[in-house]
Amino acid sequence: MTDHEPYYGHDLALVHHLGFGFHADGCAPDLIELLAPVRERDGLVLEVGCGSGLLTRHLVDAGCRVLATDASPAMLELARATAPDAEGFTTLALPDDPVPEADAIVGTGHALNYLPDAVAVQRSLLALARALRPGGVFAIDLEDLEWGTARAGVHEQSRVGDDWAIITYYEDSAPDRFVRDMTTFVRNDDGTWRRGHERHDNVLLDIAAVPPVLADEGVEVEARRSFGSHELPVGLYAIVGTKRA
Ligand SMILES: C[S@@+](CC[C@H](N)C(=O)[O-])C[C@H]1O[C@@H](n2cnc3c(N)ncnc32)[C@H](O)[C@@H]1O
Repeated sequence: MTDHEPYYGHDLALVHHLGFGFHADGCAPDLIELLAPVRERDGLVLEVGCGSGLLTRHLVDAGCRVLATDASPAMLELARATAPDAEGFTTLALPDDPVPEADAIVGTGHALNYLPDAVAVQRSLLALARALRPGGVFAIDLEDLEWGTARAGVHEQSRVGDDWAIITYYEDSAPDRFVRDMTTFVRNDDGTWRRGHERHDNVLLDIAAVPPVLADEGVEVEARRSFGSHELPVGLYAIVGTKRA
């Protein structure tokens, strides 16, 4: 369980939606290809950490039946508007919420790194693996310890859109944490601006430890630099495989 409000309240969810779609957009063609066998048998795709529905929309447009899930109510509200033709939307906060059975489990944007520690990640991986039906496809991304070392020299970043801005400060933290402090500015309907703030404390993982955890539940995966051909940022790995039939 987390002892804080879900990450991605209304304003940060909106900023993510408006300004950070490039990752889901880049991964979508590879995931659509990986999901071809599931699509052919009209299987159900469970998306974890669907966020504002940026990947959901690509998958639905490609003919997938998607159950879009996320821990953040604000993200789910955006997802409903972004991908209205998805099979369903439901709150699913790992590691404690029950995971519905599915023929594929996918996700971009490393939702599991938002969990408090490696134990919670391991519990979540096991829950996802158990929910995957035999022959099902597993494809999520996860941040390795390398994510932190590769960005050790970066202390501040900002991005601006027409109706939003975000300033991020990165904290020096332990090798297995990636902590950032984000201030958002979002334009109100009357032209004034409101200010918001979130602090995200992500756990970084030893990616080599992930495949054996999933293998215990019959899911054989590899940690790869891409889901197919779109190379991921340094330190982010695609965990891709299938459950034994
Ligand atoms: C970086 S965003 C990625 C969103 C979207 N998948 C994308 O690629 O644009 C990470 C997502 O993980 C979700 N998340 C965080 N903690 C979670 C948890 N404990 N269980 C499920 N989802 C979680 C957040 O709400 C957020 O939507």
